[in-house]
Amino acid sequence: MMRCTLASIVLAVVAFQVGCDSRPDIEVSRVGETLSDEVLLTQQLKYGKLSYEQLCIGCHGAKGDGNGEAARFLDPKPRNFKFAYFKFSSTRSGELPTDADLKRTIKYGLKGSAMPAFEFLPEPQVEALIAYIKTFSPKWHERGTGSPIPIVDDPYRSLDDKSEAIARGEVIYHGYATCWTCHPAYVDGGKINDYRKQLGFTTYDQFRDGLGESVGKANVEGWMIFPPNFHRDYVRSGADIDSLYRSIAAGITGTAMPTWVDSMNLESDDGSKTMLVQTQDLWALAYYVQSLMRERPTKVKPDQLVVRGDRARTIYINGIPADAAKKQADAAEPAGEEVDVDF
Ligand code: HEC
Ligand code: HEC
Repeated sequence: MMRCTLASIVLAVVAFQVGCDSRPDIEVSRVGETLSDEVLLTQQLKYGKLSYEQLCIGCHGAKGDGNGEAARFLDPKPRNFKFAYFKFSSTRSGELPTDADLKRTIKYGLKGSAMPAFEFLPEPQVEALIAYIKTFSPKWHERGTGSPIPIVDDPYRSLDDKSEAIARGEVIYHGYATCWTCHPAYVDGGKINDYRKQLGFTTYDQFRDGLGESVGKANVEGWMIFPPNFHRDYVRSGADIDSLYRSIAAGITGTAMPTWVDSMNLESDDGSKTMLVQTQDLWALAYYVQSLMRERPTKVKPDQLVVRGDRARTIYINGIPADAAKKQADAAEPAGEEVDVDF
């Protein structure tokens, strides 16, 4: 044992290493001690709050209600974290997203909206931001995170030629899932009925006007949202095949876009137990949607912005610019009346 001289005590305090019975242990007692979860969480939340105030507050607001300074200029509006309706997740519509979902949104942003990509942020900072965002709503405690939807095998992944997937997707999109009740149809009514017959469904006598355009749908906060026209608009949370599978399968919370993963079953009624539609067909839908997006450059006119937010210039409903169409709809609907939202 070394002798306790003043010099050795000073050395001990500075270096935290030298053993000495008489050294003042207050300064050094915390070294090597594991901080309690509570202390860690408090530190993380402080870091999260600071980061939020630097990077997010201008849009999402000090109270997390989506009402930052810039919000009034934005369409779609920044997310209101108090409501905790998170749209882009791997969990079913209505469920809270996983941390991985939130990380993806923060890192890659949401294309075609003001939500920027914060790719440069270190992982702990993103985690701190997520922890802080969760403090805005009690739903995180009350319900907990939802579980991710199943990812079934992709039968087309290894094929170089995706034309089979795309053709199948076109049938499912128009004949089975009738995605065109909200999104545009990309074939005419006659073709839709052909696809219906292929699957043993009844056909339609008539189709809505403006079948080649989206139908505006109110979201949970009452804002009008136009489902993307894949020939023209960006999708927000990734155009790669896995992201498209996720968006279609899981649906989009707080908007009309349904969860599809539980509805992809159709058995033939000839007693053969053949499945006419199955969950794997979600991949066909994803490849089909991606193929539509790939045709985009030939469809977009030079004066059209490929941003749904700029509706007045880009989106027309039954030949009327969307803003005017919305005004017409508003005028027809007495103010204060509740908007009928279907999810
Ligand atoms: C310039 C404005 C702007 C800034 C700055 C901004 N956001 Fe956003 N954010 C948006 C908009 C707009 C949306 C909604 C997009 C939509 O509805 O498609 C959004 C949506 C989100 C969502 C919801 C995603 C979902 O699935 O619903 C999260 C989470 C989010 N932002 C986190 C952050 C964080 C964290 C920061 C700061 C690091 C931040 N945002 C900074 C504009 C912004
Ligand atoms: C009841 C209306 C409705 C139906 C039916 C519907 N969608 Fe959607 N969909 C929406 C709305 C609304 C949005 C836009 C959500 C937003 O951006 O806020 C959307 C968005 C999407 C997106 C974009 C996701 C992103 O990252 O931005 C994809 C892809 C999509 N839908 C595919 C489909 C497919 C494929 C079908 C049929 C299997 C379908 N939708 C059926 C309403 C619908």
